[in-house]
Amino acid sequence: MPFLTTTEAGVPIQGPTATLIYDDWYPALRTDTLRAGKLATALLLGIPLVLGRRSDGRIFAMRDSCPHRGIPLSVGWFDGTHVTCKYHGWEFEPCSGQCAVIPSLSSHDHLDATKIYATAYPCEERDGHAWVFIPSPGAGRKSGSAERPVPELAKFGSRYRTAFLTADLPCNVDHGIIGLMDPAHGPFVHQAWWWRTRGSIREKTKRFEPIPEGFRMSAHAPSGNSAPYKLLGVYGQPVETTIDFVLPNRRTEVIRCGDKWFSSLTTVTPVTASTCRIDVVAAWNVFYHVPFVLPIAKFFGARFVRQDQVTMIQQAEGLKHNPSLMLIDDADKPAKWYFALKQVRLDGTGGHPLDGPVELHWRS
Ligand code: FES
Ligand SMILES: [Fe+2]
Repeated sequence: MPFLTTTEAGVPIQGPTATLIYDDWYPALRTDTLRAGKLATALLLGIPLVLGRRSDGRIFAMRDSCPHRGIPLSVGWFDGTHVTCKYHGWEFEPCSGQCAVIPSLSSHDHLDATKIYATAYPCEERDGHAWVFIPSPGAGRKSGSAERPVPELAKFGSRYRTAFLTADLPCNVDHGIIGLMDPAHGPFVHQAWWWRTRGSIREKTKRFEPIPEGFRMSAHAPSGNSAPYKLLGVYGQPVETTIDFVLPNRRTEVIRCGDKWFSSLTTVTPVTASTCRIDVVAAWNVFYHVPFVLPIAKFFGARFVRQDQVTMIQQAEGLKHNPSLMLIDDADKPAKWYFALKQVRLDGTGGHPLDGPVELHWRS
């Protein structure tokens, strides 16, 4: 089935499932859940994973399935160096997946256990996430992980605070991603006295430019003269905000003002073809010395994500009945770009949807 089949106004999402992008890095879980000698499980792109940390500190991710008879490896044992299957005791080195021992082999056998591999995926730790590279189905043990760098939150100095948020979304990854880049829902979904209200809706003009496999919104506020900026101690200095979206699922935001900065990385990861999970990791050096800022930031951040989550749970109710949908200009233009970029990535048809900088206008 071709990926784009609907009219210009329609949304190229067919039914409850999304086409998935393989050959890229996805966050599986937080690495503080990986304790010595313990195995953890996660689901990425519908693939069951077993993750752990070797005694030398390296983390690993394997398909949670023994290559012998398919029992989950996560119900077996892990001694810090090898994962042992519960059923017949085959032992695997978890970073390579290589089998080391088949206990049932006798002196009459010629089978070389080390020629057998469980499926192990490239797995790297960044910003407290275990990032796993998921190759295309059937791609075998060779993978293209080296061609794509492991995603990492941008930081601008060695002293900063961090926070992390996560929420499961009952919709497919496409709905999660277009919700993430949707400027028009703010005044309705995130309505609050301290943020903004419907009465504060006004016309906005934003400038976008193409970047490889994505697009960038760059904004240069003339100067930070308002009260909040005074509080930040950056009175009179220009504020620069850059928001990038890059395939398959990453939104990065960097705000810089003098030597103060805030940086976040938000990903919407397919858990299955019909469900996804949003993860936000942020770092900042603003208010570094002020007590209680971290819990307050976490409270408001969690509330913000929760508002999106509740809305998407409600949206998923509506989507069950397979309604036809639409994307409008200009507020849904970034969503259209996302679908076009995804199509280029999936089947190589079409080109980058932006051939140069453009301005979009909407009211929010
Ligand atoms: S099923 Fe795992 S060793 Fe047999
Ligand atoms: Fe939102």
